[in-house]
Amino acid sequence: MQIIGEIDPLRRAVTVLRQAGNVALVPTMGALHEGHLTLVREARKRAANVVVSIFVNPRQFGAGEDLDAYPRQLERDCALLEAEGVALVWAPGVSVMYPTGYATNISVSGVSEGLCGGDRPGHFDGVATVVCKLFNQVQPDIALFGEKDWQQLAVIRRMARDLDLTQPHADAVLGVATVREADGLAMSSRNAYLTAQQRAAAVTLPDAMRTAIAQIVGGADVRATLAQLHETLLAGGFASVDYAELRDAASLVPLDRPGESPARLLVAARIGRARLIDNMAVTR
Ligand code: PAF
Repeated sequence: MQIIGEIDPLRRAVTVLRQAGNVALVPTMGALHEGHLTLVREARKRAANVVVSIFVNPRQFGAGEDLDAYPRQLERDCALLEAEGVALVWAPGVSVMYPTGYATNISVSGVSEGLCGGDRPGHFDGVATVVCKLFNQVQPDIALFGEKDWQQLAVIRRMARDLDLTQPHADAVLGVATVREADGLAMSSRNAYLTAQQRAAAVTLPDAMRTAIAQIVGGADVRATLAQLHETLLAGGFASVDYAELRDAASLVPLDRPGESPARLLVAARIGRARLIDNMAVTR
């Protein structure tokens, strides 16, 4: 497995890899966990060569968010990736990604607004900008992202479509289904912040979301159903609900009833020290 930190050697290495077959990119900020490894395993099924990028992107951190405290563990991450059969780790420094004089920002309106973008101004600009750069640097045939961060995936697909990207094409920006614990709670490094009691209560989130989806699909009033979902989470031990919304799955336009195109239920709620997010398709 090659570990590369400069653009020219990256391009040379990717050119050689491409001669051996297609290339998948899994973008990460390191501190890898099971969720990332699931993406890597999916990538390996779909491509001859898997490239994983590790870059803690300063542009997607807000003023109050501690960029310096973000875990950096390149050696450990690389050992995990080597064991998964990854061909190349792309680990540029900040001055390689954003050299002196760097001045370009990519801002994707609509999909970036509200939900997780609501209280993190500029966050999705930072994500779109760095992912566009990673796509141009690696030029993968496909790229894989977790569906757990549904809004991020929607922003990246919109960006790829709007900028007519071909490596990868918007249709080759693939979402990988959220991995869940046996009781249905979405896996997240934030689950580790929960006490045993909070962990037991946290299952209210996927349970209440499934109930709400069944009601919405059955024709119940969406606003009343979401208010009920909110109440169920508070009664189940959550301290607060940041949002619980029905949106168009692709455009993320808010919906007051499911329409022709696929809809998605997206929720963020706080319990103990953790802010948990989840999203599910609104289908029978
Ligand atoms: O999901 C992440 O880890 C990051 O937002 C990403 C996509 C690697 C961009 O920095």
